[in-house]
Amino acid sequence: MTKITAWLLAAACSAGALTLLASCATPEEAKPIVGRMSALPPMTYPADNPTTPAKVALGKQLFADTRLSGGGKAACQSCHYRDLGWTDANALSAKEDGSINTRHTPTLYNVGHQSLWYWDGRAATLEGQTLAAWRGQTLADPVKIAALINTVPGYVTQFQAVYGGPATPDNIVKSLTTFFRTLNSENAPWDKYEMGDVKAVSKDAVEGYKVFAGKGQCIVCHSPPMYGNSTFFNIGLEHGKAKPDVGRFNVTKEPADMSAFKTPTLRSIELSGPYFHDGSVAKLEDAVRYMAGGGKPDPNKSPILRDTQLTDKEVGQVVAFLKTLTSTETWEQPKLP
Ligand code: HEC
Ligand code: HEC
Repeated sequence: MTKITAWLLAAACSAGALTLLASCATPEEAKPIVGRMSALPPMTYPADNPTTPAKVALGKQLFADTRLSGGGKAACQSCHYRDLGWTDANALSAKEDGSINTRHTPTLYNVGHQSLWYWDGRAATLEGQTLAAWRGQTLADPVKIAALINTVPGYVTQFQAVYGGPATPDNIVKSLTTFFRTLNSENAPWDKYEMGDVKAVSKDAVEGYKVFAGKGQCIVCHSPPMYGNSTFFNIGLEHGKAKPDVGRFNVTKEPADMSAFKTPTLRSIELSGPYFHDGSVAKLEDAVRYMAGGGKPDPNKSPILRDTQLTDKEVGQVVAFLKTLTSTETWEQPKLP
C-alpha cells in the first residue's frame, strides 16, 4: 500500500503545476515510501512555555470555565466543543453580547502543529492568538479576569504549584496553549491502516485515498500528516457576495491573497461541520463535491483548484476515506474548582 501511495504521489507531482505540494518538493520523496506517511511529528513547545501534566490540567479547566469571559456566561468551550471536533454546529457563532462572528469557528485539533493562526493567519504565535481570542471572543479584560481567578482557592493552589505565584493574563494564556498542544487528532483508523492493520478501513476508503492523492489532487493542498497546513488559497467562496471577506489579503496586502483562507486540517473533519470559513456548506459530501468541482469562478481563485471531474462514486469514496481520519481519543470534562 505504501508503494501505491508513493506511486500516486509521483503521478500527482508529475501531472504539472503541482510543485506547491510539500510531498512533491524533493525527488527522493517521490520514491516508494516505507512505513507511515501520516504520523504527526512530535509537538514542539516554546522555550518559555514547557509542558507539565499539572499545567495541561489547569489549561483544560480554564478552557471550560465561564469565569474566563467578560460577562461570566461563555467559556472557550461554548464555541469549541470536543464532540463537535472542537467547533460548534453553527455556520457563524454568537458571542456573549449577541454579536455574530463573521467567520466559522475552526477546529482546535492539531492547532499546536500550525505555524500561523486564524483563518487569515494574522496571528504568528499560538500564545498571541489565544490572548486575542480571549479578549475578542469572550469579551474579557484579562487583568480583571486574572484578579477574579485569584479569588478562587482551588485555582490559587494550582497556579502556585505550576507557576510559583498567582494567576496573571500571561500564565492563564500559557496554561490554555499548553492544553491546546495536547489536542491532537491522530491514531485514527487510517493511521492504523498505514501501520499495517489492513482491516482498519473499508475498501471504499482505500479507493478514496487513491482518488484523494491522484485524480482529485486534494493532497496538493491537504498534505499528510495533517491533511492541511498554514497555507492560504482562495477557493471561490466569496464570489458574488455583496461584501466579500478579503481574508489573507488583510494581512499581506498581496493581490494574490485576496479572499484566500487557511487550508484546514482534514483530521476528524467528519465531526466539525458545517464547513469552510463561512460555514456555508452543511454536509461533508457537499464540501468534497465543491472542492472536486473546482469552486466558484472567482477571478482570484487559486489556479491549483480545478474541476477534477470526480464521479459520484469517487466523491463517495473520498468521503469514506476522510471518515477514517477521525481520532478516537478519550475525553472527560474537567471538574472546576
Ligand atoms: C463565540 C464563539 C467563540 C468563543 C467563545 C471562542 N472562540 Fe475561538 N474562535 C472562534 C472563531 C469564529 C475563530 C476564527 C476567527 C478568525 O479566524 O477570524 C476562532 C479561532 C480560535 C483559534 C485559532 C484556530 C486556528 O486554527 O487558527 C484558537 C486557538 C481559539 N479560537 C481559541 C479560543 C480560546 C482560548 C477561547 C476562550 C478564551 C475561544 N477560542 C473562545 C470562535 C470562538
Ligand atoms: C488549492 C488548494 C486546495 C485543493 C486542491 C483542495 N483543497 Fe480543500 N480546502 C482548501 C482551502 C484553502 C480550504 C478552506 C478555504 C475556505 O474556507 O475559504 C479547504 C477546505 C476544505 C474542506 C472543508 C474543511 C473545513 O474544516 O471546513 C474540505 C472537506 C476539503 N477542503 C476537502 C478537499 C478535497 C476532498 C479536495 C480534493 C477534491 C480538496 N479539498 C482540494 C484548499 C484546497
